[in-house]
Amino acid sequence: MEFSIKQSSPENQRSACVVLGIFEGGQLAPAAHALDQSVNHQLSDLIARGDMTGKSGSTVMIPSLSGVTTERVLLVGLGKPDEFNAKQFLDMLRTTFAALHKTICKDAALYFTDLPVKDRDEIWKIQQIVLIGAESAYRADGLKSKPADKPVLRKILLGSAKKPDSAAVTALHQASAIAHGMKLAKDLGNLPGNICTPSYLAEQANKLAGEHKLKATILEEKDMEKLGMHSLLSVTHGSRQPAKLITLEYRGGDKKQKPVVLVGKGLTFDSGGISLKPGADMDEMKYDMCGAASVLGTMLAVAEMSLKINLVAVIPSSENMPDGAASKPGDIVKSMAGLTIEILNTDAEGRLILCDALTYAARFEPDTVIDIATLTGACVIALGGVASGLFSNQDQLARELLDAGEYSNDKAWQMPLWDDYQQQLDSNFADMQNIGGRAAGSVTAACFLSRFTKDYRWAHLDVAGTAWKSGKEKGSTGRPVPLLTQYLINRVNTTK
Ligand code: BES
Ligand code: MN
Ligand code: ZN
Repeated sequence: MEFSIKQSSPENQRSACVVLGIFEGGQLAPAAHALDQSVNHQLSDLIARGDMTGKSGSTVMIPSLSGVTTERVLLVGLGKPDEFNAKQFLDMLRTTFAALHKTICKDAALYFTDLPVKDRDEIWKIQQIVLIGAESAYRADGLKSKPADKPVLRKILLGSAKKPDSAAVTALHQASAIAHGMKLAKDLGNLPGNICTPSYLAEQANKLAGEHKLKATILEEKDMEKLGMHSLLSVTHGSRQPAKLITLEYRGGDKKQKPVVLVGKGLTFDSGGISLKPGADMDEMKYDMCGAASVLGTMLAVAEMSLKINLVAVIPSSENMPDGAASKPGDIVKSMAGLTIEILNTDAEGRLILCDALTYAARFEPDTVIDIATLTGACVIALGGVASGLFSNQDQLARELLDAGEYSNDKAWQMPLWDDYQQQLDSNFADMQNIGGRAAGSVTAACFLSRFTKDYRWAHLDVAGTAWKSGKEKGSTGRPVPLLTQYLINRVNTTK
């Protein structure tokens, strides 16, 4: 879907459909009012007759309205004016795109950027129109022999009463980049484990580097061996697929500026290993590389935006499979940091690959390191699909990530990293064990990682509940690409 922004009045708009908002109680949003004036109050008449209530979730399509150049006018209910907040706006956008996709319209002009949304600016509205529009057109049909019908709606114009300023144009451009990053993350996430292997992810990183200003480096198992990454390597012992450590570097900032490093869990299939998972829904463990996918998506978005920042992606990627060579419960391995780990459950493998990747991340002399991982089922129980779990060793970083998530509609919620939890990882035989019992499962997983991140400012996002949806709507969400890119955009804007 293509988006553009332009000063335009709805009555003179030549598109297949003009979309206008109507508040409950009959109040016309500014653009609807303008159009109403030029069509002899036909809209007000329609509202007075009761054909459009303005209730949220409602839509009325007017096929041909005399006095306008557009072929159709779609009225969308906004609900009560004093309750029109961010959530209402987002729900209204989903309703709008669902209604448009039911028509034969190839293009539409949306007059939404002037709507007054509580606590939200124009830039936010532009961003969300693009993200929700792109989301509505997404199909995961690349592997069907007959692809699903492509949406006919291809072009969206954001109509605005005033001439869009440079901030609005930038917002549109950046939002399109975020949408592209989310699409990449979704495409990779939705691929099955037999296609999306660690080698496939490495190829995708190389491809990205070929297409954008990025440098890719792929470390093989023998390289990791030399670095002493025995914790990471222990996870891949049961797999026929070679593990990869993928790095991508983007240098858009000052040479001396320390980079942000994003570390993404890239488990292309997590069977649990010898601590085998139950069979039900095990297919969803193809999504265990969604942290990696979100990091690749963010790199793409940042490169497309030419953001003035230095950014590095580190992606440890492997499968977790049962096999004669696989790690066994009770095995003890030595991490790259020199700390020994007793593997009591081979299904707690994410932390085993991440700890070595986090140690490796220090080589880039980072300003900040953020890891993104589908780490624990416990996080799904705690926060469901609404918020990602956020842990950090620095409160200001946590605040910045929470704000970025709130703004971009990709929420996170902070969880504690108190030392009180660390003892749950005590082992009789090694420096630590890889599980901390049933209590506070997502916290003890984060505590495990925190032992490897003492030398830098660090945050961990547990996206086990937010990276994909289960059930009838099964599919990758592309989260947390919006949160991460927003955080990076905000960083650049505040250090300008
Ligand atoms: N990839 C899973 C986490 C997961 C499970 C994400 C279900 C989404 C849905 C991770 O590797 C895992 O298996 N974690 C275990 C840890 C436990 C053994 C301490 C879990 O959460 O059950
Ligand atoms: Mn696991
Ligand atoms: Zn896993």
